[in-house]
Amino acid sequence: MADNPFSMPLDEAMMTQRAIRRLLPDPVDDALVLKLIELALRAPTGSNAQNWEFIVVKDAAVKAKLAKLNRQAWNVYGGIGRRLAERDGDETMKRIIKAVQWQADHFEEVPVIVVACIKTFIPWFPPIAATSAYGSIYPSVQNLLLAARAANLGAALITLPLWSRFRAQRALGLPLSIAPCAVIPLGWPKGKYGPTTRRPVGEVVSLDRYGHRPFA
Ligand SMILES: Cc1cc2nc3c(=O)[nH]c(=O)nc-3n(C[C@H](O)[C@H](O)[C@H](O)COP(=O)(O)O)c2cc1C
Repeated sequence: MADNPFSMPLDEAMMTQRAIRRLLPDPVDDALVLKLIELALRAPTGSNAQNWEFIVVKDAAVKAKLAKLNRQAWNVYGGIGRRLAERDGDETMKRIIKAVQWQADHFEEVPVIVVACIKTFIPWFPPIAATSAYGSIYPSVQNLLLAARAANLGAALITLPLWSRFRAQRALGLPLSIAPCAVIPLGWPKGKYGPTTRRPVGEVVSLDRYGHRPFA
């Protein structure tokens, strides 16, 4: 590992962090993956409970189970997406669908898959607890994505393999009290990081009351 693989300026990492789905099969150093997770752990959690768990998946059999779950969900969701993209002539969506298809076809070749989980005191959380549960894991996931970007690793936040929490738990050997929340396939990118396209800030910010948009 280089002396400091995370020296990229924060704004550059934020402006260029994006879903990189086409990955090389080349291995990623365990030390680098652990460093990413260590940086992820700097994130906040509700009541500072730090009730997170990260499963680093490298075993081919476990990857195959996640790949199968991913494909099952993608076969349904991707079919709908494809039809809508065709109907609307949406070229951006067609490009995303191609990338997601590539990821589904090559899932087993991804060198490392990190699954971010949260410990809950009940196997199923009602809406009142859902904000706190997911809110206590996603900040760490974003930290991990930014750290991966800084280190020039490719990564994407995906949830399709989690369409059945129970099956995902079984694949990962998780007890019912630990909910898998996000899957992050990691590897060296086949392509390059490009700029992301996002809505302009003035379009999503209201002043004082919803809908008052002087910054638009
Ligand atoms: C909650 C959540 C779930 C997502 N699930 C998936 C997924 O299952 N598969 C996938 O390929 N991308 C998934 N994504 C990635 C989004 O499609 C991606 O962030 C979005 O298209 C923007 O892409 P960009 O950062 O490359 O511009 C998910 C993102 C979020 C925030």
